Amino acid sequence: MTTNAPLTVSVLGTGRVGSHIAAVLTQRGHTVTLGSRSPEQAIVRWTGPAVPILSLEEAAGTAPMVVNALPGDQALSVLTSLKAALSGRVLLDLANATTRTESSMELLYPGSSLAEQLQKVLPETWVVKSLNTMTYTVMTNPQGQVAPPTAFLAGNDSEAKQAVQKLLDALGWPPEWQLDLGDVTAARGSEALFLLVPFLVRARGFEPFSISVTQTTSAALY
Ligand SMILES: NC(=O)c1ccc[n+]([C@@H]2O[C@H](COP(=O)([O-])OP(=O)(O)OC[C@H]3O[C@@H](n4cnc5c(N)ncnc54)[C@H](OP(=O)(O)O)[C@@H]3O)[C@@H](O)[C@H]2O)c1
Repeated sequence: MTTNAPLTVSVLGTGRVGSHIAAVLTQRGHTVTLGSRSPEQAIVRWTGPAVPILSLEEAAGTAPMVVNALPGDQALSVLTSLKAALSGRVLLDLANATTRTESSMELLYPGSSLAEQLQKVLPETWVVKSLNTMTYTVMTNPQGQVAPPTAFLAGNDSEAKQAVQKLLDALGWPPEWQLDLGDVTAARGSEALFLLVPFLVRARGFEPFSISVTQTTSAALY
């Protein structure tokens, strides 16, 4: 792990992903605020380490980095309404925006991506896509996988991506497991990977999963 200084992060959404990331970061000494539609109810439900739980707007305006852990099909409208609070901040978007059909999932923004849509409506926010291609437990414990998983990054601003890489460091991701795919349009690729999920579940049940990009050894090239 290369992170030295404690990070200050707000996490929007107190579901499986939001509460897990908030609890783990807090346990590791970082400063976390959670954002909820109904903070009073979320406080009652909360069983993790002491963390302030505020409204979505208050939480979004609290930290230099904000994590979108909202339902992917709601994120665009909710985060658009937080435009002023999110101005000047890095938005780590880990959401998957899909619609569910009888037998599979469809992308909500085909030919584009949630991250691109967010970047379009939030021009004063630096949107970075990452962490959406794995089960939430892997996000905070990549070392627990039998093969090195890959954390893809996509975003237009290199400083914003560096800030997200610091968060990935804090979550236990070695730099060589982090793969910067380029600008925010690369989120089309990483978001589309989520279409595998119903088929993975069908093939192997609700087992945690991650995706790895591996290199061929030089000996195997010939
Ligand atoms: N679960 C995974 O392993 C996983 C993996 C990769 C990516 N993701 C993505 O991460 C995001 C969160 O997933 P999750 O599993 O944590 O979902 P979840 O358990 O359903 O939690 C989402 C949270 O967002 C808030 N929320 C729900 N509806 C809302 C609305 N209409 N407006 C504003 N806030 C709303 C709720 O918190 P409050 O009640 O406190 O407002 C809710 O607990 C999703 O986009 C998902 O695709 C999940």
